[in-house]
Amino acid sequence: MVLDDVLLKYMQTAVRVVVLTGAGVSAESGVPTFRQAQTGLWAQYDPHDLATPQAFQRNPALVWEWYAWRRDLVSKAQPNPAHLALAELAQRVDQFALITQNVDNLHQRAGSQNVIELHGNITRIKCADDGRIVTNWPESDETPPKCPDCDHYLRPDVVWFGENLPRGALERAIQLARDCDLFFSIGTSALVQPAASLPLLAVENGAVLVEINPDQTPLTRYADYALHGPAGEVLPALVQAVWG
Ligand code: APR
Repeated sequence: MVLDDVLLKYMQTAVRVVVLTGAGVSAESGVPTFRQAQTGLWAQYDPHDLATPQAFQRNPALVWEWYAWRRDLVSKAQPNPAHLALAELAQRVDQFALITQNVDNLHQRAGSQNVIELHGNITRIKCADDGRIVTNWPESDETPPKCPDCDHYLRPDVVWFGENLPRGALERAIQLARDCDLFFSIGTSALVQPAASLPLLAVENGAVLVEINPDQTPLTRYADYALHGPAGEVLPALVQAVWG
């Protein structure tokens, strides 16, 4: 892979580096991207019809089961070289922040710390009523299980379509995007707001924008560097080229 020397220099000298990731970063771990067709039993459902508060209200058992299936899928998946390269990048640069739209916990399992989770984390469960995180609940045949404190249903701690982002996460992400020298948008279709506006905010404030994605996105034309390839190949190559 031929990498631009000027880009390598930017990576070497940047003080504040911010990375935004999307489902494409986990594609090489075998986690289907959100817009990919589902398989098996779930093929007949559109994720956009399951990941909403209305869907949960209509059929809580169906939504719980879908997330249980996805939780099982991500627990069996392993972080890939892209996740590992990002954990390494954090060690190399002065100030580093990782913002993700992914809920699969793979960045954290690869060793990344202080990940800003814009859309929550599928491995956490919370009370559907007051949002408190719950780690244990009594065994029962009920689906979904009930909150041990208040008897409301439990649900995954993820952001559904139409819900607000976790308090503080977006504000932090905006601040980081505004203040950085170098911004990477990796494995995201850059279609879903407000995450999609973060790279543009960085560009408006003078940052160099790098996109890593095998395909074009609406962001590509704003990118200083559009690296068209799988993140699991491009990221390790970049880290290797700069730091050996
Ligand atoms: N490396 C890098 N990018 C890849 C790879 C790969 N190996 N494989 C696929 N991609 C790219 C695709 O080309 C696509 O542009 O990853 C992107 C995935 O896009 P989406 O499925 O739209 O995922 P994302 O951008 O994370 O979606 C944002 O929208 O549906 C909601 O809440 C959901 O968090 C999700 C959000």
